Amino acid sequence: MTRTSDPSRSPAWRALATHHKNARSLKMNDLFDSDPRRFSRFSLRWREILFDYSKNRITHETLRLLLRLAEEAGLRESIDAMMRGDRINWTEDRAVLHTALRNRGKRGVRIDGADVMVDVHAVLDKMHSFSKRIRSGRWRGHTGKKIRTIVNIGIGGSDLGPLMISEALSPYAKTGPALRFVSNIDGSDFIEKSRDLDPEETLFVVSSKTFTTQETMTNAHSARSWLLRKLRSKEAIKRHFVAVSTNREGVEAFGIDPMNMFEFWDWVGGRYSSWSAIGLSVCLGIGFDHFVDLLAGAHGMDTHFRRASFEKNIPVLMALIGIWYNNFFGFETQAILPYDQYLHRFAAFLQQADMESNGKSVDRDGRRVRYQTGPIIFGEPGTNGQHAFYQLIHQGTKIIPCDFIGCIKTHNKLGDHHEKLMANFFAQPEALMRGRSAARVEAEMRTEGMSEARIDALTPHKTFEGNRPSNTVLLDRLSPFNLGALIAAYEHKVFVQGVVWRVNSFDQWGVELGKVLAKRILREEKQLLSGEKVDLSHHDSSTAGLIRQFVKRNYR
Ligand code: F6P
Repeated sequence: MTRTSDPSRSPAWRALATHHKNARSLKMNDLFDSDPRRFSRFSLRWREILFDYSKNRITHETLRLLLRLAEEAGLRESIDAMMRGDRINWTEDRAVLHTALRNRGKRGVRIDGADVMVDVHAVLDKMHSFSKRIRSGRWRGHTGKKIRTIVNIGIGGSDLGPLMISEALSPYAKTGPALRFVSNIDGSDFIEKSRDLDPEETLFVVSSKTFTTQETMTNAHSARSWLLRKLRSKEAIKRHFVAVSTNREGVEAFGIDPMNMFEFWDWVGGRYSSWSAIGLSVCLGIGFDHFVDLLAGAHGMDTHFRRASFEKNIPVLMALIGIWYNNFFGFETQAILPYDQYLHRFAAFLQQADMESNGKSVDRDGRRVRYQTGPIIFGEPGTNGQHAFYQLIHQGTKIIPCDFIGCIKTHNKLGDHHEKLMANFFAQPEALMRGRSAARVEAEMRTEGMSEARIDALTPHKTFEGNRPSNTVLLDRLSPFNLGALIAAYEHKVFVQGVVWRVNSFDQWGVELGKVLAKRILREEKQLLSGEKVDLSHHDSSTAGLIRQFVKRNYR
């Protein structure tokens, strides 16, 4: 195998660049016309998930070369290295073992000789018994009342995953306590989410890997004051606060009983942590059995990812098709479009999973990359998005590859809503691909009896050039198992792309600078607000001017 430190100089990359010269003019309509079996050739089923990638600007030759790119990048070895616990997050010197969290089998996974599965099982057992106590009402608040609302306080990976999953699986949460999520440092978030809550019936789950994150700690302190204001005893904290963290000292210093701490480990990345105790809120909401089904689905996808040949491997194909558009066509964006209201936070979750992982511009040797890395991810659930930004996807100057995600069965049969939803789900990718030619537009307007002048004027506006690519992921239903598998598929898609681009998908140094500057500015704001003189000349004039306005107008 040829290995080069710059993938864009590798033989497969060069071959793809050459291939792209012809492939860029491929018309998907022609590909379908010339191959009646294109759908079956370019789609894969894994259990209750169908992945249809036929509506892409690819041929068998494209795939052959993309698969060669993956081989040349050493993907097979990289998957093994991640799953056996090598320290592949080299800038933080950490292993990356979220796959171990969902592996409930007997086989050990070792880091520095210690079997991490022992701890994983112990924490899962603790989550099990705690969730049973909360859900059954055996766990009582300080004044003896049953807990009715769980408030997860966390941000980023300690919020987006659990929030997205608990929304997605809310049909399974009918009998559990209500869940709320507070993440933003904007006090309005806590105020609005706590406004109608009774502290005697509320449990806060403070979720933070580091237990130092400004937003989470500020919200947690406000929650503690809110609780103490009403319950008037520090003893109440024990019954109303639990913590999920890797930082035992931080948790104790906050005043949370270490018995009420659910541990996880530095080898779990924040955005990959929903499978750990960070999923506690989800577990409290849907119950342990459903949480375990979620883990099982993810583990099933891990096994598929590790064992399936690359040409039949859903995450690998997702990743390679993404690379084809990102690096050869120059399409910079990807839309995530779930046609299921329960998945309404899925795109927000993936924004962190993908953009925090692969939004990097130096490779693993610290050299500036000469090629594009992570795409811009955005999306909204269908059909809402159709009435907002699909115009640009259909007729704009940018091409945005889309992932459509839908479910065959609905949780809520209501008249023909689901048939209508799914009609839209099938129509959009077809419309994007087929387009509508000027000749057809003209002919239609003629049949309507429109004047030739009006036809001439309107034709360019009503024409769709088509040939806009998409993947379709069709689940039988949105069950915990299928959701777990879907999330894991996207996690691995991100991983594969990171391997090919030779970036570290598991650190996030890019979030640090803003945090540091905000700390200093906070100090300055407070000094200015208390009337002290502060030298702001080290800021640019815009930042200094804005800070001064904030302070000046605050006094009015
Ligand atoms: O935004 C940076 C980040 O470190 C994310 O990676 C992480 O998910 C989030 O902050 C929250 O961190 P913590 O769980 O330590 O509070």
